[in-house]
Amino acid sequence: MRMRAAVLEEFGQPLVVQELDLEEPKQGEVLVRLVACGVCHTDMYTASGVDPSGYAPAVLGHEGAGVVEAIGEGVDSLQVGDHVVTLFSPQCRECVHCESPKTNICLAIRDQQGRGYLPDQTTRLSRNGEPIRHFMGTSTFAEYTVMPQIALAKVSPEAPLDRACLFACGLATGLGAAMYTAKVEEGSTVVVFGAGMVGLGAVAGARLQGAERIVCVDLSQERLEMARHHGATDVMLAGAGGDGVVEAILEMTGGFGADYTIEATGLVDVMRQAVESARMGWGLATMCGVAGKGETVEIVPRLLITGRRVAGSSFGGVKGRDQVPQLVQRYLDGEIDVDGFISHRITLDEVNKGFDLMHAQDGIRSVIDFG
Ligand SMILES: NC(=O)c1ccc[n+]([C@@H]2O[C@H](COP(=O)([O-])OP(=O)(O)OC[C@H]3O[C@@H](n4cnc5c(N)ncnc54)[C@H](O)[C@@H]3O)[C@@H](O)[C@H]2O)c1
Ligand SMILES: [Zn+2]
Ligand SMILES: [Zn+2]
Repeated sequence: MRMRAAVLEEFGQPLVVQELDLEEPKQGEVLVRLVACGVCHTDMYTASGVDPSGYAPAVLGHEGAGVVEAIGEGVDSLQVGDHVVTLFSPQCRECVHCESPKTNICLAIRDQQGRGYLPDQTTRLSRNGEPIRHFMGTSTFAEYTVMPQIALAKVSPEAPLDRACLFACGLATGLGAAMYTAKVEEGSTVVVFGAGMVGLGAVAGARLQGAERIVCVDLSQERLEMARHHGATDVMLAGAGGDGVVEAILEMTGGFGADYTIEATGLVDVMRQAVESARMGWGLATMCGVAGKGETVEIVPRLLITGRRVAGSSFGGVKGRDQVPQLVQRYLDGEIDVDGFISHRITLDEVNKGFDLMHAQDGIRSVIDFG
């Protein structure tokens, strides 16, 4: 079939929206008609050329939601008409990682996905016979996509897909960091660094877990107001250098530090602050941010010996096919205000405007509406 998609032709250049060919779904694959797709930092990062693992030409986009249009042979977990959220982090339910409750990092298709191919090492996307690679196994800046069934979460048909799409990356990453990676306990104190999509999700996740005190730190007063709306009990306006933030958190916590800290900025200096403001004895610092290539975090070992721990969180530790539907249900039950995250609605042709808005930190999320 023919369909329109936003192609990364050359790093550092705007995406080019154009018609491409999309092959039918093969063994274990599903054809999805996209209804909505959020614009996330990782798309912009790859488009910029800074990501060393990036490749072109490719169709970007990974925060998608849509409707199943066709299924390939052997697909048993989805049917035509099902509503789905795309998963850049799949869940095969069979590999040693999927069988462990300790991680959400599925091993089934990692290599192929990382190189831009579907599990059988080929692409379904092409232009005049020339293969175009898939991005993050999702390629959702497009009217349609073909993906393996293990990378699609079936969600309630009651959830509007233009909200559900945020659970494909940013929102689920933040919620999950608090709920599944840190496993925040009732009555605890949590500090979230960063009040973007991921940080605000973490604030909401900490609230859902029953945290008593949730402190959010950001550079923007406006974003801190949003953090309050999503459940922060305290907010702290930081300077870009973060001077005095750790001291202020220690002071707020009787000199000990917080039970849980969650980093959602991508800045290694802030990651260090997250470790330093975690509680002696058991404080857990969870890192969500993607730092630049070659950057490292400085940690004084004494902080670790005295009981602080550090965790990393990919996609919030969310096991996508099992837990994305549960998170979407909590939204439907009125526990998460998703509408408030959507600041701009754009068309596929305006995808580069989505990057501009993100670059200017104008709003939390732009969502492409495929109409
Ligand atoms: N682990 C994952 O699977 C995953 C998934 C999605 C995004 N991410 C990463 O998470 C990070 C956050 O993503 P986002 O979409 O929320 O980004 P964002 O840019 O919207 O938010 C980052 C926030 O950090 C704030 N900030 C900057 N410097 C700060 C400082 N010194 N102290 C406190 N706050 C500061 C900014 O004001 C901004 O509000 C990024 O690095 C992104 O790449 C990771
Ligand atoms: Zn993302
Ligand atoms: Zn697996």
